[in-house]
This record gives sequence, C-alpha cells and structure tokens, in this order.
Amino acid sequence: MPDANHDLYQDDLLETQSPSFTIEQVNDIANQLYGLTGVLFPLTSERDQNFRISTEAEDQFVIKIANSAEDPAVIDMQLKALEHIAKVDPNLPVPEVLFSRNGLAIEQIQAENGDNHNIRILTYLSGAPPKDDPTDHALHRPMGACLARLVLALRGFFHPIANYELLWDLKHTAKLRQYLPYITDANHHELVSYFLDRFDRNVLPLIPKLRAQIVHNDFVPDNILVAENDPERIVGIIDFGDMTHTPLINDLATTIAPMLRGQADPVGVAVEIIARYHEMIPLESAELRVLYDLIAARLTMLNVIAYWRYTLHPYNREYIMGGVEETWTSLEVWRAQDPAYVTKKFFRACCLWEMYEVNSMQKEVNETLQSHLSRRARLLGPYAYLFYDRPLHIVRGEGVWLYDDEGARYLDAYNNVAHVGHCHPHVVNAIAKQARRLNTSARYMHGYILELAEQITKRMPEPLSVCMFVCTGSEANELAWQMSKVVSGNGGALITKFSYHGSAAATTQFSTETIPQEKLPAHVKTLFAPTSDSTFRKPDSGLSSAIMALDEHGHQPAMLILDTAFVSDGIYTSPKGYLNSLFAETHAAGGLCVADEVQGGFGRLGQHFWGFQFDDAIPDIVTLGKPMGNGHPLAAVVTRPEIAETFANEIDYFSTFGGNPVSCAAGLAVLEVIEKEALQQNALKVGQYLRERLAILKRDYPVIGEVHGTGLLQGVDIIKPDGALNPEMADHIINHMRESSVLIGTTGQNYATLKIRPPIVFEVEHAEILLAALIKALDELLTLQAA
Ligand SMILES: Cc1ncc(COP(=O)(O)O)c(C=O)c1O
Repeated sequence: MPDANHDLYQDDLLETQSPSFTIEQVNDIANQLYGLTGVLFPLTSERDQNFRISTEAEDQFVIKIANSAEDPAVIDMQLKALEHIAKVDPNLPVPEVLFSRNGLAIEQIQAENGDNHNIRILTYLSGAPPKDDPTDHALHRPMGACLARLVLALRGFFHPIANYELLWDLKHTAKLRQYLPYITDANHHELVSYFLDRFDRNVLPLIPKLRAQIVHNDFVPDNILVAENDPERIVGIIDFGDMTHTPLINDLATTIAPMLRGQADPVGVAVEIIARYHEMIPLESAELRVLYDLIAARLTMLNVIAYWRYTLHPYNREYIMGGVEETWTSLEVWRAQDPAYVTKKFFRACCLWEMYEVNSMQKEVNETLQSHLSRRARLLGPYAYLFYDRPLHIVRGEGVWLYDDEGARYLDAYNNVAHVGHCHPHVVNAIAKQARRLNTSARYMHGYILELAEQITKRMPEPLSVCMFVCTGSEANELAWQMSKVVSGNGGALITKFSYHGSAAATTQFSTETIPQEKLPAHVKTLFAPTSDSTFRKPDSGLSSAIMALDEHGHQPAMLILDTAFVSDGIYTSPKGYLNSLFAETHAAGGLCVADEVQGGFGRLGQHFWGFQFDDAIPDIVTLGKPMGNGHPLAAVVTRPEIAETFANEIDYFSTFGGNPVSCAAGLAVLEVIEKEALQQNALKVGQYLRERLAILKRDYPVIGEVHGTGLLQGVDIIKPDGALNPEMADHIINHMRESSVLIGTTGQNYATLKIRPPIVFEVEHAEILLAALIKALDELLTLQAA
C-alpha cells in the first residue's frame, strides 16, 4: 500500500472524491457569479466536476468545479497559460477564460459539507472527438505538429507553482512502485516491474540533463476536438489539468503512448508522430535515446494509477478502467520490440541516423583494414580507388569536419560537394521534409522546380534563362554536348589539355585526365588552359590549331567546353580576354561555348558567383553540378531559350530523377544558405587570407612553387630545386597532412599541385589549422630528405 511519503505528491488529488454539486446548485452559482443562465449538461472528469452550459443567447461554456484538494495556484497556472498561448499563437484552438462579475478568473464556492471549491468558466470549443479507429492514421502527423505548436507557444511561459509534484508527470515514474500492490495479476505485476526497472536504469539518471519547460502534459486524442468535416484538422485543445514543468520528451511520450493502443505497427505510429514533431522542434540525441522507455513508462503509469484509483473509487469503474486491457496488450507488444531497433527507427525518423551510429555503443563490427579492403575490391571491383596511403573510414560530417569510425576528427579542406558544410541542417531538413511529403518526376507540376529554375537563372546573365535539371555533372555535360551538336550541326569538341568533364560515354572522351591525349578520338582536340605563367595565354591558346586539326579530320566545332576553374589543369581562373577571345573564335567556327561550372560555380571563387564571370563572358550553355545539392545528386544545364527550343524540336529529352521535388528542395536550401550566411563573401575573405599566408610560407619553403587559384579553390605547386614539378613530394605532403587530420588532395597534369578546396564555410581559424599541418608535413619531409 502507499508509503508514508505518498502525500508529498498530489496523490490526495486523485484520492479525493470529485465534487458533487447538484445541477440546480450549479445553475444558481453560474447565475450569481457570472450572470449566466441556461441549460446544464454534466461532463465526465477524473477528479473535478464539469458541466457544459448552453445559454439562451446560444453561447456555450464549460463550468469547472475543482476538487477540494486542488491547489488554487495550479488552477491559476492553467488559466495564465491559456492567456499566454492566446497571445503567442492566437490560432491555437484553446479555450478562453470567462471572468466573473467580480472580475476574477477563479471564484470560490462552498459545498454543503463545508468543503471549499474553486470554480472557473471557459469557452466551450465545438468540434468532434476524434474517431476511435486504430487503422486510421490521419491524425498521427497532425498530433505531432499540434503538440509541437503547443510546446512552442508555452516556451516563454512560467509560473511559480510549475514544479509542483504531480503523479502524472513522467519524471516521477519511479514513485509508481508504491502502487504495485494494487496490481494483483502476477503477469501484469512482472510486466510493470520490468518497465519500471528499465526506467530507473535508462531514464532516471538522464532526467536532469533533458531540456524542460511547462507543457500541457496530457495532449492525447481524448483531449482534442477535430473538425466535423475534416478529421485531420484539430479545432480544440482541452484539459490543461496536468500541466507541469517537465522534460519536453516526457510530454511527447505522453502523447504517443495512448495512441499506440490497438495498433498493429506501434513503432510506425510513434515514428509518424515523432517525425512531424521533429520538423518543428528538432529532437536531441539524449531525448530520442530515452523515448522508448518513456513511452513504456507512460503506458505503465496509465494502468498503475488506474488500478490504484479503482480501489479508491470502485463505483467509477467504467471511467477509470476504460482502456486498461488495451494498455496491457500495448505494453506486451512494446516489450516484444527490440528497444535498440526502435530507438534506431526514432533516430532515422529525425534523420539523425549517423548520430545514433556514432554515439551508440553498438558500433559496426570493427573489421581490420585489410579485410575491409579485400572485401571492397571483391565487391566493388578495381575502380574503387581510395584516397590516402592509409584510407579513411568516415562515418559522420558536420560543417568543415569529418569524423571517422573511431570518433577521430578531420578538417575537410578537400570536399567541394559539401559546399555549405557537411550535413548543413537547413539542407538536411529541407531534403527530409520534402522526402516525407512527396518525390516524383518533373512530369508533374510542382512549385519547387520553378522556384529553383528562377533562383538559378536570376543569377545568370541574360539571355541564359532556361534551366534543365539532371542528376550529375556528367549528365549535364552530355546534354550540353547533344544540344551543341543539334544546334551547330557540327560534330567536333574542343577541350583543355588536362580536363575532366565526366564519366559518361561522350564526356569520358572530353576528359584528358582519364584517357590519354593519344587515345582521344578524332572529333576531340585540345587547347591550353590559362596558367599563371603567361606562355599559354592569348595569342596562343592553341585554339586555332585545334580547330584546324579538327578540320583536317573532317570535323567542325560543335562545342568548346571549359571548366571555368580549370581544376584538373591545375586550378586557374580566366585572365582578362581569355574566355571572350576563345568564345569569339569558336562562334566564328560555328561552335557553341559551354562553361562547365561543376567545380567553380556557386560562389566558391569568391570574387564572382560563376567562373565565367572572371572575363565577363557569356557562354551559350552553362552546366552545374556537385555543390548544387550539397551532396544530394542535383545538376543542371542553363541555356538560351532558342537553343532549348531547337534542341527540343529534334530530341524528346527526359530525365526521371532530374528536377524532382526533393532535389529541388535541396538546391533551394543550398542557395538560401549561401545567401544567408554570406558564403561567397566568406570564400573571398578566407581565400585571400590563405593566399597571403601561403605566399609568406613560399619564402621559407623553396619546395613551394606557384600558388594559384582564387577564393576557396587554391592550387599550390610543389617543386624540385630546379623548379620542375615534384609529384612525389606532393603525394607525401597530402599523406602527412592526413596523419595530422587535415584532408587535402592533388591536381594538375603531374598531380604535383596541392588542391585546397574545402566546404566554403571554412574560416580563418580552419585555414590556420591547415597551414600548421602543411608546415608540419614540410618540416618532417625536409628533415627526412636531409637525413
Ligand atoms: C569540371 C567537372 N565537370 C563535370 C564533372 C562530372 O560530374 P559528376 O561526377 O557529377 O558526373 C566533374 C566531376 O568531378 C567536374 O569536375
């Protein structure tokens, strides 16, 4: 039976009988204190006495006569909370307080036995109770959303009584043990003990760490009303009687638990509610970790309190014991789940999968490096090339940081795809949100594809106003090639000496980085990329000879394609006059000019958003990719309307995945982040700083040759004493830096140029870390060389 401490809790509230005023008495009270007359209808209540009054003016109110044990301060908190919600989120459908003739929100009345009771009147919310049908999932997501709104509306609310001890508050779950003797069935007793033990072990120690505030604490289907004609629309939130200050996650568990009753897939139901809630209030790792046990605790609580209260008020059996059997079944079903698996699903519903992997003690079985590599070679074939002598096993990324499977952190100064930072929350949320809603091909109307096309084309010079979406840079360049052939009527391609434009059939032939020059087909000819050394600049870019060489093989140029950041050629931007003169010459020979912005686009270069802007040149076609979706496969071709039209008249082009709503959500989010976080400006500022520091370093380290590039795309030539490029040394440097947890790569025809190409959220402090690792690598290598 309850121990001596039990009166520390508001158990007496649950023990005391509900008030029992007659209808006539309540009618008189309503009239005297509030000037209300009308017809009264009794309503059910766990511990109070409630009525609906319908007045002659056809207004409806709820009269709530509190249990004599109810602390008036608690009622005051509930009424003040309603006023607060009305101010913060006026569209949340909560009742309004009716003030008495004395101007009071709470009045006091006396029962015949002398007990004092507080009384208050609220507006009656119309609407229907939700359908009691476990197969109907319509309400799950709206419940998650509405609960989150309620939490947000109460975020700034406080009341001195808020920390009062209420048995219905999950943080007091351990106190349920004193009521265990009321559960006489041995199986049920064992089940309850099992979950109470889990609570003590897994939740109790973490409660002080969980974020908390005043919450509704009983937002369940019994306490909402939905629109008669739209069962997914919540039009009323009632019963603020269990409000308290408790961890937010307790409030969410309280909502989820009763909704699992009768469900064939309770985890699926929980996941739907959680995912929607998380969209509005991102859940924290610690919260998701305790959620399985909190849901169990709430189901346990429902039954333990029901059994105890039934003993106290046996005449009220139907009301108190209503859902008990279904709750036992739910608890059994919940116990049959694997808690680790359920928790994993919760993390996944919130797109925090990696957080689960890294934090959980159940890490992937640690294979040895060797067995992993042989498995990789067997399963992925010889093309599964890995970076660095000691390959990395990365499991998580955040901003400019990557984390390996042992939790070690690496500064990422290499990956340009994670343009606005690894796993940028705005992009991740945009993808997750849209993926939950819809993903289809661009053959259906959708707003996002238009918005993204507008956002891209508004950043392009006139007349580049048509956007076609694909998934990869290779595809974009293939499409540009097809367009160029159709529009020009020619079949020749012009590329730089050490270029990369993709891995599809045509683009492989435009990638001298992957196939040697001598193997290029006759319709592809090369010219020089600009370098810091003026040798290859106009007047001899090599374009005229390349056009002539095409002609000798019976081809006229269809397309000149240039990576405007010349990354594979060694990292350069166009000097003044270079692009314009090449474009003019190509046009004169009948070809189209394609700016491949897959590397240089989207603000990385600092001074300009696109690489072709370094020469104020206007390409016929621009291709985009890599950074566009921050890791989500998204690419595009932008061109003039007449080119798109001529092409469309010839070829019925379609891409299944290109421009789908999820990809477009990612693309829009990336552009928003670039803008809001001023990342192009950041690339300029940090790039300049890095450049200056590298120039200083060059003075002390003769192995550093030319430094070239712009913004956050920098190339550093590594040279021998005679000035020749030194690819071996460059390779040693990147491997030494990897051992210092800083990741860069190499590029250029000899791979002797250090490629520094971080996410553009890279800051000066990160540049310092990179420089320190570079200095350390150089010192170590030069000492080794000297020995
Ligand atoms: C300049 C350039 N164009 C095109 C591509 C091909 O893009 P994807 O790998 O997405 O097909 C790349 C890839 O590295 C690239 O650097």
